Amino acid sequence: MKIGIYPGSFDPITLGHLDIITRASGLVDQLIIGVLVNNAKKPVFTSEERVELIERVIKDHPELPPIKVEAFEGLLVNFAKKKNASVIVRGLRAITDFEYELQLAQTNHKLCPDIDTVFFTTRLEYSYLSSSAVREIASFGGNIRQFVPECILQSVYDKYSSIRSVNHGSKQN
Ligand code: PNS
Repeated sequence: MKIGIYPGSFDPITLGHLDIITRASGLVDQLIIGVLVNNAKKPVFTSEERVELIERVIKDHPELPPIKVEAFEGLLVNFAKKKNASVIVRGLRAITDFEYELQLAQTNHKLCPDIDTVFFTTRLEYSYLSSSAVREIASFGGNIRQFVPECILQSVYDKYSSIRSVNHGSKQN
């Protein structure tokens, strides 16, 4: 059984991620989405929230095969080994991704030669899309409908309205 890990921050999941999940799930027998718990990156959504948002998106797409979503800490290759994965899946949007992704893939391969990284080139319509752009647009109350799956749209807006009210409250204090 070929097991693949699709790792990332997913802060939050975007339509670009969903496209890679859909295509990668046909490549392996079992796809596991690995959500990095990296508090140093100061994610807007907690790892529990990010896992829940991805699970909700998967549930909303019954045509997808069963996909697991798990948070992980530490080295990706250790998580992949623990899960008996032989493939790491990453998306490549543009040439600007390439240097970082190549370095990541080569480092991971050096750390664990049994695991290969497979790249999916992002569909053109999502080649500009990133979670950070979604966060920035949402933080200013802009329209993110064309960037994130419909079923998580309100949760992203709710997160930013709670951040705004906390910030507003602390300014008043
Ligand atoms: O969505 P992202 O933030 O581009 O994902 C980056 C991720 C999670 C794939 C990468 O940061 C990662 O694998 N982090 C875990 C630590 C690790 O294994 N680093 C590789 C050796 S340098």
